[in-house]
Amino acid sequence: MNNQETIVEIRQKIDIVDLISEYIPLVQKGKNYFGVCPFHNDTNPSMSVSREKQIYKCFSCGASGNVFNFLMDYDHIDFKEALKILGERAGVELNGMTLAPRETKFDRYYEMYDIANKYYQNNINTKEGQRARKYLKSRKIDENLIKEFGIGLALDKNNAMTTILGSKNYSMKELEQMGLSSNNHDTYINRIMFPLCDINGHVVGFSGRIYDNSDLNKYLNTKETAIFKKGECLYNYHIARDHCRKVKSVIVVEGFMDAIRVSQIGHKNVVALMGTAMTTEQMNLIKKLSLNVYLSLDGDDAGQKAIIGIGEQLEKMGLNVKVITLPNNNGEHDPDEFIIKYGKEKFDSLIENAVNYSDFKITTLKSGVNFNSDLELANYINSVIKEISQIKDEIRREIILKRLAIEVNLSYNTLEKRLNEYLEFQKVVNQEVKSKEVKASAKKINKYEQAAYVLIYGMVNDPWAIRKFEKEDVHLFTKELRSLASEICYYYHKYGTINMADFYTYLADKEELLRVYNFVISLDYEDEMSVKAIEDCIGVIREYNVRQEINRLRDLVKNENDPIEKAKIAERIRLLKIGE
Ligand code: CTP
Ligand code: MN
Repeated sequence: MNNQETIVEIRQKIDIVDLISEYIPLVQKGKNYFGVCPFHNDTNPSMSVSREKQIYKCFSCGASGNVFNFLMDYDHIDFKEALKILGERAGVELNGMTLAPRETKFDRYYEMYDIANKYYQNNINTKEGQRARKYLKSRKIDENLIKEFGIGLALDKNNAMTTILGSKNYSMKELEQMGLSSNNHDTYINRIMFPLCDINGHVVGFSGRIYDNSDLNKYLNTKETAIFKKGECLYNYHIARDHCRKVKSVIVVEGFMDAIRVSQIGHKNVVALMGTAMTTEQMNLIKKLSLNVYLSLDGDDAGQKAIIGIGEQLEKMGLNVKVITLPNNNGEHDPDEFIIKYGKEKFDSLIENAVNYSDFKITTLKSGVNFNSDLELANYINSVIKEISQIKDEIRREIILKRLAIEVNLSYNTLEKRLNEYLEFQKVVNQEVKSKEVKASAKKINKYEQAAYVLIYGMVNDPWAIRKFEKEDVHLFTKELRSLASEICYYYHKYGTINMADFYTYLADKEELLRVYNFVISLDYEDEMSVKAIEDCIGVIREYNVRQEINRLRDLVKNENDPIEKAKIAERIRLLKIGE
């Protein structure tokens, strides 16, 4: 069996509706299934999955593909990995299948970081690493944790990193670009090194912590490089991924030490933000880990404030957010310190008693309010009701509102009336936002582009259209469209058949074509295309080509000095115009 046949066999054995429903809830409507698209920010079911065609597509962001594409995009893995996972699931042997690992333009940088990482890791076990080991021990980071998290050490030793990488033929310029060196001097000196990985587990940066008395910055992070963006990174993401899926939740903490500690006591579904800020990219990553999020930030003001902002945004993205509050009584203000002091069981019970984000927010609204002041009390009541209006679950809304009525000694009906006003207002806002989004996403496609897209769509749907395309010798306008059409013809002649789902995989390493194909399929044309529809498209494309040719000839006429040549071109234009 050749590669393509094995790939098709695996694809056929895995039903796309079954696969996707393991990741996002799907609801059947008519022939298709619908769910909230995981590939863009949304809470509406804009993704449709077709059992018949074995593809998915999102009407909002345009993502589309087969089972392999879904897994690749969802898990940020490459085709080879997706094939391995789905092959196992389908019970299809991949023996003898040779797929070259995908090379990227960053491979050289990954290798560079790999060398640096090994060097730092080795240092910590040497004699020169003694003080660092002692420090880590004092922070209850034992040898197993050092190994598990790849913790290393940068020495204060003649710019060793610069020398080593230089001897491996990395230029000074590359070392500077990658943030490992500057002016022949090591960037990291005398720091405990935490390797930072991208979502696929490549080491792409470091955070170096001071460990003996020093006035320097506590942590020194790799600068932004081609392979490292702090705002797109979550510490421990690639390890947490599988665990999050298993336990169906993710714990979010601030620091490295917190993540390492929480993981050590058995919660391997933990990631760290590396501070209190969370970017949109990080939120999207978290959404992919799980829809159930536990926020366990530091107990200090910065941490508590961050919970309010981050929680609100995550809830807006449709996630269920719970907050773990650390009792901030004895100065231990982060999960690491808490666990060291009180142990695993106490932290486990904090997780168990985590409160819903809305309850947390409402509790914080109360702090500092003077209940004897009419104005402050009214403000408080209004802000709580506003918060309640954000809760989707009607029953929870009623419970909290009843509690509030008792707390502030007002009638339930008065409060309910106000809540309904907020809910009404919320509806109007949502509708406005939605109609703006629709307007923004409606791209203008002219009739010529439309004709080409319909033709391509028709070709992967029905070989008749491929034969017609070839017979009529249709010339499409862009290089991408022409290559795409020619690949479709090639595939059809090679395998004797073509199908929308398999063609995605065939295009896997042709990024540009895949993008165009993706777009065409997401346009969602009729499946039953009439012969006339295809013929009309070919007519429109031809009309466009004639017009282009006429324009070209007109330019020629303008620049032609020889009157005889001029007349010849003019005659060609005339013939084209009357359709000869
Ligand atoms: N951080 C950073 N640069 C700094 C300070 C903090 O990048 N100058 C990030 C680190 O990722 C750190 C996180 O913010 O892990 C949380 O900061 P903090 O709570 O101060 O550090 P801890 O992780 O608790 O480290 P430690 O317990 O060793 O102080
Ligand atoms: Mn700490």
